[in-house]
Amino acid sequence: MTESPVAHEPVLVASLLRLMEFRPGQAVLDGTVGLGGHAAAILPRIAPGGRYIGIDADAAMIEEARRRLASHGGAVELVVGNYAELGEILERVGLEQVDHMLLDLGVNSAQLADAARGFSFERDGPLDMRYDRSRGERALDLVNRLSESELADLIYEFGGEGASRKVAKRICQVRHEGRITTTKVLARAVESAMGGGDRLHPATRVFQALRIAVNHELDNLRTFLEHVVDRLRPGGRLAVISFHSLEDGLVKRLIRRTVAEGRMSELTRRPVVADQHERAANPRARSAKLRVAQRV
Ligand SMILES: C[S@@+](CC[C@H](N)C(=O)[O-])C[C@H]1O[C@@H](n2cnc3c(N)ncnc32)[C@H](O)[C@@H]1O
Repeated sequence: MTESPVAHEPVLVASLLRLMEFRPGQAVLDGTVGLGGHAAAILPRIAPGGRYIGIDADAAMIEEARRRLASHGGAVELVVGNYAELGEILERVGLEQVDHMLLDLGVNSAQLADAARGFSFERDGPLDMRYDRSRGERALDLVNRLSESELADLIYEFGGEGASRKVAKRICQVRHEGRITTTKVLARAVESAMGGGDRLHPATRVFQALRIAVNHELDNLRTFLEHVVDRLRPGGRLAVISFHSLEDGLVKRLIRRTVAEGRMSELTRRPVVADQHERAANPRARSAKLRVAQRV
């Protein structure tokens, strides 16, 4: 990461604070602490005596969050880890359950702005896209390893890209001439397969699909959701902010199932979305959906 990362404007803060009812002394688990934007808004509400456990898979984010949240002192405990491992992480900090949990999914502005991370097709850099750079395949490994039909399926399933077959074919033609290792080479391959005309840049959905696959985003969310209810204290609340329908669908189904089982009650029958003002001020807010449920 660069010396001073760009600001990350947290989304749906006012709705989150209204729906979660944070109280002094409560324990909160934030599975995606990022640059600590939501944390900074929540921490004053759980003081005095509160504990804020912030997890991020990206060690650089934890380092930055530590700096930004330093004024909150011992209330903040930051852990480099995967939120899917919430049980182990809670045990590590000596907690069985917490009062509230929060996930704000996906990539943050600082990661997108850092060309070396490879998340953005607008910046030339290595095609990496891992949140956790200590392990796992990079996007470039996937792009060069998968067969044409595997690539097409991935782009269709995780990106919802209707022209996935055309794009996969073009990627395979380009990599035939040499390994694809940078964001710009991939973005150009996608552009040349699809042309312009769409409101979205043609590479948007392809980059989203690769990011989801590289980081096993849906598997991690599924695993987290399987364990979340047991790790909430009675009356505790879960908030998830998602950015595409695959994530939101998983959250919606978990809530509906646990409501049917009598274990949770739903506090947002429809997902909460950003108002006009927030959408205009923060492009990331345009696709954000917040769902909140409470343990019975
Ligand atoms: C949208 S950002 C969160 C921003 C944060 N709420 C804020 O206000 O600054 C999402 C963060 O989740 C992290 N992340 C993604 N998948 C993760 C996972 N499975 N476990 C832990 N952190 C993850 C990313 O590294 C990123 O920093």
